Amino acid sequence: MQPTLELTDQVPVGVAALVVPVTPGTAGDDGAVLAGRERDQVESFGADLATLDAVLAREKIKGNAGDVLVIPTGKRLVLVAGVGEASPRDLRRAGAAIARRIKSVASVGITLGRQANGPQLRALAEGLLLGGYSFRVGAETKPPTLESIALVVDRPGAVAAALRHGVITATASRIARDLANTPSSTKTPAWLAKQATTAARRSGLTARVLDDRELRAGGFGGIVAVGMGSVNPPRLIELSYLPAGEPVAGHVVLIGKGITFDSGGLSLKPNAGMIAMKTDMAAGGAVIAAMAALRDLDVRVRVTGLVPAAENMPSGSAQRPSDVITHYGGTTVEVLNTDAEGRLVLADALAYADAKLDPDVIVDLATLTGAISSGLGKRHAGLFANDDKLAAALLSAGAASGEGIWRMPLVDDYRDCLDSPVADLANVSRAGSGKDYNGGAIVAALFLREFVGRRRWAHLDIAGVGRAEADEHEVTKGPTGYGVRLLLHWLGSADPLRGLR
Ligand code: BES
Ligand code: ZN
Ligand code: ZN
Repeated sequence: MQPTLELTDQVPVGVAALVVPVTPGTAGDDGAVLAGRERDQVESFGADLATLDAVLAREKIKGNAGDVLVIPTGKRLVLVAGVGEASPRDLRRAGAAIARRIKSVASVGITLGRQANGPQLRALAEGLLLGGYSFRVGAETKPPTLESIALVVDRPGAVAAALRHGVITATASRIARDLANTPSSTKTPAWLAKQATTAARRSGLTARVLDDRELRAGGFGGIVAVGMGSVNPPRLIELSYLPAGEPVAGHVVLIGKGITFDSGGLSLKPNAGMIAMKTDMAAGGAVIAAMAALRDLDVRVRVTGLVPAAENMPSGSAQRPSDVITHYGGTTVEVLNTDAEGRLVLADALAYADAKLDPDVIVDLATLTGAISSGLGKRHAGLFANDDKLAAALLSAGAASGEGIWRMPLVDDYRDCLDSPVADLANVSRAGSGKDYNGGAIVAALFLREFVGRRRWAHLDIAGVGRAEADEHEVTKGPTGYGVRLLLHWLGSADPLRGLR
């Protein structure tokens, strides 16, 4: 269950806990002391100020973002929470730290006072909702959980829209996490398509799903080849958003890799590397969840979301290393490694978008290569783009949303490692060809670039950031929902396609 967030101008009666923010500015060497205004609020809440002062004097909390001190005073629970310099990033982190400490408190008030502006409120909401996220399969007896959070500000009207945007964004990120957390035995391509169409219906999108027969007939050779080893046949999910009101200003196509399980296929993965591969549709889930939030955010451009969904399994009907497949649009590919399957399903979607959807820009997201996390680690996605303005827009959305992103080069000189003697190109560089440049994430991006025609295009390799090994700030262990915040900060901005039409 997700708690409700509401704005008020006074601490509501009956909340079970009160959170008081402090900054390093209010703390000397002796730690934080509460100012007059906060003292009044704590007192009207019914907490014992003497106890509070004594604990603050003893603990010397500094007020860095993420510091939280839980202080029971009589029957009242007070949390003193550091918010650092109160940047959006600090508030997102503070929100997450607070959320982890109040999971089983029914209702909470947070005193924010005079300053809280829109970006701060949006970030705090994101932190509160994402830091408190958890997932369990079929939990029968549910532990007591947080139901409501009241954000106490001087002028609620001034920040209401920002808070709403934060809640919409975080809710969508949680949906993406839920989808990625769902076990692959449930999460077949058909199941994922069903989730997408249900979400579309609720959020004013149109949905179209191509089944395996239609994919075959339509020439989607990459999606068909990857899916044909599985008893759960592939799908291509297409969601369409048209803004209401004034004429539409441009068209964005989002594409998300939707591999519902990646065993590697006949190029089988070792067990240790396979366990995480139920989340190989994390990017597709992020696209579905982001699409479902566009209407609530009143996004002003047309957006189409494509999720090529397939299960990559070894079997008697699976594709073989050395097979040659024909992608949408006619490009042939020699499949040297069936574990490089993401690029095969994406190639069809990219070529289809270019040929049929007339987009101004295409942005694809994919858990594409282990190599990207060797280079960038687990907190920055790799951004590849053939257009500097599009790259700049995505980099600034990353900064605003708190989702790390770093631009990588499309090195033309590496392209010849994908040459094939029997097809237009190979899906990986051929071992022993003397053209082994390493740079696996770059080579994968070069492969994708072959399918975008002359479109403006960006590719985010989210293999590193798509799942986390441990809780950290707004990220929780497991699937992170990466991409939803970045996409919604970008598409929800005043003109996401400025200079890109
Ligand atoms: N889904 C994997 C990439 C991946 C690895 C995602 C680790 C998340 C964590 C992808 O399909 C894959 O297997 N890529 C191969 C490509 C190689 C065969 C060229 C890889 O990265 O090893
Ligand atoms: Zn793979
Ligand atoms: Zn994969």
